[in-house]
Amino acid sequence: MRRAESAAVSYPNAVTLSSASRSGVVSSRTVILKAFDDEQLVFESESYSRKGIEIAENPHVALTIHWREVHRQICVTGIAAPAAAAVSDEMWAARGRPNQAASVVAREGATVDSVAAELDLHSRADALTKSEAPISRPLTYQAYGLFPTTLEFWEGSADRLHRRVFYERESPGGSWSWRRIQP
Ligand SMILES: Cc1cc2nc3c(=O)[nH]c(=O)nc-3n(C[C@H](O)[C@H](O)[C@H](O)COP(=O)(O)O)c2cc1C
Repeated sequence: MRRAESAAVSYPNAVTLSSASRSGVVSSRTVILKAFDDEQLVFESESYSRKGIEIAENPHVALTIHWREVHRQICVTGIAAPAAAAVSDEMWAARGRPNQAASVVAREGATVDSVAAELDLHSRADALTKSEAPISRPLTYQAYGLFPTTLEFWEGSADRLHRRVFYERESPGGSWSWRRIQP
């Protein structure tokens, strides 16, 4: 990430998160990677969203990062789980009022029945942003931790013999083994 930031990669923390239903139907979308440490990658979403429901019924997820400017990709698979409420609270507080208001007035994934309904969402979000009232975190707004069990670092090479380094472990918290794999 430091390398991507220093190379001025555009939106380096916009990543693709894939989840799957209990029956194995896969879905993907972009989320923001909010934080990471040695154990987990943290993103936020709504627990009632498609991804939230899928993670609740099947915690196996994949996350892909592509940094075009530095010709790198990172592929992660692992187990996702809701983070502690204190982590969600902290991320909510850092969100800024317009984003908080949008999260409160909109229901991610719900049908918009009309243009009037869409305009109403905008005006309610605007009014809430401008009001003095504190905007509390809806309990459905959650931080999630992704605990990796595989990590693959891909580095592009001009001769197309790209370098791939693959890490794996049996379960989150276990010890890693790694090997180079062919492009
Ligand atoms: C650049 C970008 C960043 C996004 N970041 C998030 C995010 O951090 N969390 C989130 O829930 N949705 C985020 N979204 C919206 C998701 O891509 C998606 O539309 C939404 O979460 C609903 O997904 P779902 O119905 O598959 O659960 C982002 C979209 C874009 C384009």
